[in-house]
Order: sequence, then structure tokens, then C-alpha cells
Amino acid sequence: MTITEFKTACSAIEQEYKAKIAAAADLAAVEELRVAALGRKGALTDLLKGLKDFSMEDKKVAGPLGNALKGALSAALEEKTAFFAAKQINDELNKTCLDLTLPAFPAPQGHRHPLSVAMDRMTTILAHLGFEWAEGPWVEDEKHNFDMLNIPKHHPARDAQDTFFADTGSPISMVLRTHTSNVQSRFMEKHRPPLRIMAPGRVFRNDSLDATHSPVFHQIEGLYVDKNVSMADLKQDLTAFMKGLFGNKAEIRFRPSFFPFTEPSAEVDVKCVFCQGKGCPVCKGSGWIEMLGSGVVHPNVLKNCGIDPNEYSGYAFGMGVERLAMMMMNINDIRTFYENDVRVLSQF
Ligand code: DAH
Repeated sequence: MTITEFKTACSAIEQEYKAKIAAAADLAAVEELRVAALGRKGALTDLLKGLKDFSMEDKKVAGPLGNALKGALSAALEEKTAFFAAKQINDELNKTCLDLTLPAFPAPQGHRHPLSVAMDRMTTILAHLGFEWAEGPWVEDEKHNFDMLNIPKHHPARDAQDTFFADTGSPISMVLRTHTSNVQSRFMEKHRPPLRIMAPGRVFRNDSLDATHSPVFHQIEGLYVDKNVSMADLKQDLTAFMKGLFGNKAEIRFRPSFFPFTEPSAEVDVKCVFCQGKGCPVCKGSGWIEMLGSGVVHPNVLKNCGIDPNEYSGYAFGMGVERLAMMMMNINDIRTFYENDVRVLSQF
């Protein structure tokens, strides 16, 4: 064999086996090709056996050529083997219908109740306005729920129709607090001005459940007492609060009203977000929705708590959380909050 014949034979083997390896259909076929090309009696092994008859000079050319071809064929065989090995694993996995590359099923996640979400937003805004968190008991004596708040014995708010009386076995008559205003008397009894608190919480009234009433609902009380606190402070803070809640375009109006614990008193309406004030069933055609009661703290209330009304004055407000939440979340039935239908709750 001449060196030229050797080179031609190398090219032929290379072409033939590279094509065959590329076309191999499975691992067994690849193994067969390995034996046929590189095995003890393989085509290339055979060819390389002829090297021993070459001159020294020819060996220097033919040797590296043969080795390079051996390396190239080995690499091609190895690559194909790896491909089939991976394919085999994949096929095995597919057979068991388990695709480990799929993302896991999302686990259903719980979330907060819309009332908590609403309450959180309201208290966050109030916190930004400098109000501190305060709490009071749900089962309350008449003194803190009524007397200290200047609600006289004959006042209709005490009527059994509105108030749940609690039979606690105590000689003192106890009620389920009818408003969060009990926290006013509880807090001012113990703290001296300046004070600025918010008291979010549950309140109870003997009302029957309908689209806008519930015997159990939530209020947030606000109270600010210091020197020279006036109605102007109340207006400014409540305007800031409502804008924080409903956006900068929110409009509010103050309507003169009466509460025993404030003088003067005002109710605050927000322009109806459902109809932008044009009038709709939700606002009963008026364009405004009543949101809270407020006013300048009555001197008697300060006095009852041991604060000198000649030195200090304050404002207070109490708002219905459900009402505000209904406006914020476009809900038109208060019962939505209590029925706990997951399909509804998960929308908020
Ligand atoms: N306590 C009143 C109610 O339940 C709401 C209220 C009105 C609270 C005026 C106040 C206030 O603090 O100043 O309807």
C-alpha cells in the first residue's frame, strides 16, 4: 500500500462511518458501528495494521492521520451514544407520565378578608396623619359607653331596641358596645393631652341584617385633644383622610348634625363614587353618601374624663368601616362581607 492509497482509504472510512453514525437508529446500532470501525477486526484497525510496512518517512505522515481519524470517529460514536442514553431516560420518564420539568401545581393560597384589607388601608392613612392605635372592650359598662360620653339616661341610643344588654352576672349593667366611642372615655380617663388616637374595632347594635345593616359591624374612632383644636383641624384631617382613601378627586361635605358627645357636630358625606354625584340607587339619588359622624368634643366629655375644657379642646369622629369598604371595593350589599363565599372573597 502506498501512502496515497492510505490517505484515500482514510477518507473513505471517514465518510462511510460518519454518515453511518449520523444515521444510527439506536444504541445497539452505534455499538455495532464502533466494532465495525474501531474493533479488533474493525476497518480502521485493519488499515492501521498496514502502517508497519511504511518507510519511516511515510509513517510520520500516515501515523498522525490515522490517529486523528480514530479520535474523530471515537468522538462521533461517543456523542451518538450520549444522545441515545439521554433519549432512553426521557422515554422512560414519558412512559410514567411524569415530566419533571413541569412547574409544580400552584398551592391555593389564603388571603386577607376584604374588611381587614380596607381597615388596614384606613388605619395606615390615619397613622400617617399621626394617630396612635388604641383599643377598648367589646363588653362595656354603661358608664363608658354612654354616661361619660354625655349620653343621658333617657337618650334613645340607650333604648333596648338599639343596645344589646349583656347578662354577665355583674351588678353593673353591661352592654355590647354600641360604638367605638367607648374608647374615648377609656383612653381619656387614663391619658392626658396632647393625645391623638384611632380606635378600630367591632361594634354591636340590635338591628336586623339587610343590604345596608348588620347587628355586628366595625367602626374606627378618631380623637384628637390638645390646646386650640378646632373644627378647622377636623375638616383638614378628614379631607386628607378621604383623599388618601378615594384619591385626590374625592370630595367631601360637612352637614350640621347632632351627637351628645360633640358640639358642634357634623356628619361627613363623600361624593358618591358609583355615579360621581349624579345620583344613583346607591346614594338614593342624592349624589352623596354619609360616611361618618364627627364634631368638636363636648366640654362635658372632657370634664367627665378629668380634662379641663378651658385649657383643652378636641375633635372626634367615628366612621363605619363596612360603608367605606363598600365604596372602596364597589360592593353594594353589606352581607357580602359576612357570608364568606370564597368565590367572592378571593376577588379582593
Ligand atoms: N359614635 C357615633 C355612632 O356610632 C359616631 C360618632 C359621631 C363618633 C360623632 C364620634 C363623633 O366620635 O364625634 O354613630
